[in-house]
Amino acid sequence: MPLSSNRSLLLLTLALFGALLYLARSPSSDIRPKAHRVLAKPRTAQQNGLVNQADRTETLADEEGDQEKRILRQRIVAMGDIHGDLPAATKILRRAEVVDLKGQWIGGDTILVQTGDIVDRGPDTIALYRFFQSLRPQAERAGGAVVSLLGNHEMMNCLGDYRYVTKEDIASFGGERNRREAFLHGWIGQEFRANYSVTARVPYLIEDYPASLAAPILPATPSGSSDRRFVEDPTFATASSAASDPLRRSAISFVHGGITPEYLASRSSDSPITDINRIGHSILESLLSVPGGVPLGLPRSANPEQKEFWSERGPMWNRDWALEEEEEICERVEKALEVLNVRRMVMGHTPQFEGILSRCDGKILLIDTGISRAYGGAHSSLSLTYTLTPASALTVSDALSLGLVDLQDADPEATLKGDEMSRTWVEKEVVEALYTAGRATEVLDEREQVVKIP
Ligand SMILES: *[C@@H]1O[C@H](CO)[C@@H](O)[C@H](O)[C@H]1NC(C)=O
Repeated sequence: MPLSSNRSLLLLTLALFGALLYLARSPSSDIRPKAHRVLAKPRTAQQNGLVNQADRTETLADEEGDQEKRILRQRIVAMGDIHGDLPAATKILRRAEVVDLKGQWIGGDTILVQTGDIVDRGPDTIALYRFFQSLRPQAERAGGAVVSLLGNHEMMNCLGDYRYVTKEDIASFGGERNRREAFLHGWIGQEFRANYSVTARVPYLIEDYPASLAAPILPATPSGSSDRRFVEDPTFATASSAASDPLRRSAISFVHGGITPEYLASRSSDSPITDINRIGHSILESLLSVPGGVPLGLPRSANPEQKEFWSERGPMWNRDWALEEEEEICERVEKALEVLNVRRMVMGHTPQFEGILSRCDGKILLIDTGISRAYGGAHSSLSLTYTLTPASALTVSDALSLGLVDLQDADPEATLKGDEMSRTWVEKEVVEALYTAGRATEVLDEREQVVKIP
């Protein structure tokens, strides 16, 4: 080989190496999703990478002294009914920057919620449940979570109702007998009982919470997956601290069908989330001991609360929030939000083929857009981005536009650092619909409010 070509090879290698170094060092490349809970201080290399739980706690302990300086961030991505279409699901999750081209988790500490109906109408049942099963621990290692909810179709398959199961799907299990076994005692049934729930309440502030407030205590994470924190009601330190906590409802409720205030009232329980999940799981458990195999529907021995749960009034089938007139529902929606301690309710189940539908000023978000080939609807996901910024981290012009300081102030900069300001935060929430195939992102709701912590 002539010398000159050797040299150009060397030069090329050097140039490539340089470019790689540059890429690796640039703080936020456009390809990678941003670190979602960024600290105001410059991050160390370790913090810039995917942090695990232990690292994050350490960082927080280090910074306790200047907690009021931290900007708290969270990102939640939600995806509706998939119905047996793995290619559609992975495309959508790539668009939302939670997985890469190989289907590996790149979402950092994002919380991904899938609101059920992975199964039926399409062939990819095994591949889809395996896919979410593989994402779950990856997300956990990165400080995020995968929250999997049961749809009415998951439950129908457990109950032996095969009306919507395709021939290819049955063949992929090696026959109907094997498939029934997989959903009952086998790997899918086991995972439903361990890692799937009926409803979840995902708070925007998980470990971080402004110092002067008693953080709601989320359930401890037992040996199972980390999403268990979101499937029980939080306990507030005291009733009075909860009532005066302006961030108490900084959380989102997810369910497959819909949770109505009437259903909640029929529960007579002060822990509705735990309660709803308990009933759903009691049905799954009961199927393990039904004599003579799985019935076609609820077992005859089902009790009244199980029957109510599995009715069209219950959380898996209800369609009120999708089908009734807005004038009829918004007040009822507000009641349910109050009981669940959340700002918004997100659900699938009733397809909106054109795209994600926001109702009652974004309090209801309908995210089933019929993404499966079986429907051919819009390929969508919902993205919720939250920031809580301390007043001291605001620019004077932002503070002016929020009315936190006015032009009369002698030194607005100093005012922002005052005593009252140390208890003042700006809460911002952006709700977006993300689409594949070149369709522009749609901002469904965006709000910013000043929060004074008592
Ligand atoms: C539930 O999720 C955890 C965490 O990813 C995993 O280790 C466990 O195997 C799952 N359980 C079942 C029964 O699949």
